[in-house]
Amino acid sequence: MNSIEPGGTPHPAPRPPSQAPSRPSTRATLPAATLTTAAILSALPALATGAAAQATPEPGQTVALVTGSTSGLGRELALRLGARGDHVIVHGRSVERGAEVVDSINAAGSGSARFYRADLASFAEVRTFAETLLADYDRLDILINNAGFGSSPNERLLTEDGHEYRFQVNYLSTFLLTHMLMPRVLSSAPSRIVNVSSGAQTPIDFDDVMIENNFTGRRAYAQSKLAQVMFTHDLAEELEGTGVVVGSLHPATYMPTGMVLRLGATPRATIAEGADAVMQVVDSDDFDSGQYFNGLRPARANAQAYDEEARARLEALSRELTGIGGPPADPADVESIDAIMEAVYDVISGDAGVARDWDRFRSLFAPGATLSPVGRSPAGSYGRRIMTPDEYAENSGAWLEQNGFHEVEINRVTEQYGVIAHAFSTYESRRLATDPEPFARGINSFQLLNDGTRWWVVSIYWLGESPDHPIPAKYLPGGGR
Ligand SMILES: NC(=O)c1ccc[n+]([C@@H]2O[C@H](COP(=O)([O-])OP(=O)(O)OC[C@H]3O[C@@H](n4cnc5c(N)ncnc54)[C@H](OP(=O)(O)O)[C@@H]3O)[C@@H](O)[C@H]2O)c1
Repeated sequence: MNSIEPGGTPHPAPRPPSQAPSRPSTRATLPAATLTTAAILSALPALATGAAAQATPEPGQTVALVTGSTSGLGRELALRLGARGDHVIVHGRSVERGAEVVDSINAAGSGSARFYRADLASFAEVRTFAETLLADYDRLDILINNAGFGSSPNERLLTEDGHEYRFQVNYLSTFLLTHMLMPRVLSSAPSRIVNVSSGAQTPIDFDDVMIENNFTGRRAYAQSKLAQVMFTHDLAEELEGTGVVVGSLHPATYMPTGMVLRLGATPRATIAEGADAVMQVVDSDDFDSGQYFNGLRPARANAQAYDEEARARLEALSRELTGIGGPPADPADVESIDAIMEAVYDVISGDAGVARDWDRFRSLFAPGATLSPVGRSPAGSYGRRIMTPDEYAENSGAWLEQNGFHEVEINRVTEQYGVIAHAFSTYESRRLATDPEPFARGINSFQLLNDGTRWWVVSIYWLGESPDHPIPAKYLPGGGR
């Protein structure tokens, strides 16, 4: 790999670990619970609780998840989906109200339901929720991201992850949950994702996303709701051609739901009106993916939703804060160890002036993946500099594109045990593919994981060759002979 920074030189000495840039505690590491089936199962009693009988879907039954379906609009949507025969995953924090909704659906006899408790103010709970659903369900046809926390109380609250409360509950957790459930939504296509936003929309100030200044509950709510619309536009682009259609909407103004009653506002619309609007986005084939609706009508959201630069900033920030890896991968890139390693070399390589496909690059890495060059400090000690794939793309990307960089693997030694593998991949780097001699050689140590659906790069850790550390013959083609 290459650790060149803009204006820098190849393979600079990394900062020793103690000086490595501090990383937010929320950065993605796969929770231990995702690593063993036993751990996932042990999470179940905490999630799928309640007095209600917990039904499982029949083969072929449409499966719909409605977040925040323990009250208000979400409850009405869950009942409607159940009444038409769907299996509904009911979600919220209130076990009692969740059980009531599940019992109502199961008792009515057309559809079926289960309740899962998860607090969206906790990324750990969202991750466990998503992992549990992935383990429990082999399909997800409809995902309605409806859960939300309103503008009242007019108080700046923080989540357990340290983020502004509405931004995390209404938006970041939706982003995380949707990305984690994406394999099921994709494999169930034609499928649908509906983000229940609001007409209350305030542009995001990227210098103060967590609203430390001039806070109002309304501003926090409205920023999070616009972020949902921006996310919907990104999803539509990412999912083009996959059969997954996405939409967002303002359901209705001042329905008599929990958040409106807490605000003390006089209701102006019925919950049924809001539910009609959401169900139109669930069912209609008559709109382009990504469309925003005001009630039943296609509408224009706040201008920031159409600002590609703002959307890219929001997406990068959201990936960073939630620890979600890159965009969906091309299946051909991740079907085998050979394929994913070839894709890494291919995507970083190219002549000067040729833009690299950084989305393809990001798509190869697992949540929380790192790239770390090892180098020597002026004092003579060795250390590694830790970068996320985003940081690598930002720091080294411009240099690679300006100067030309071709890296090829000349030898590989792989060890594999079940779903984990590591590979010592010896590389040569050239400015032009046709340069007779490489300007650098070294070893990329890849760590890889197969999660049952694809291969992921967990880490690439490398050391450039130097007089102190010539590449050993056993890591050269033909054993160096
Ligand atoms: N009401 C309106 O007029 C209106 C207008 C525009 C948009 N909307 C949108 O409609 C959606 C539904 O809201 P609503 O009006 O039906 O309000 P609501 O009655 O207050 O319902 C909110 C739902 O979200 C869940 N929720 C809230 N905080 C949560 C958390 N931290 N973790 C997990 N679940 C959480 C609640 O579950 P628990 O209570 O079990 O925690 C509840 O099921 C929201 O996205 C809202 O922004 C509503």
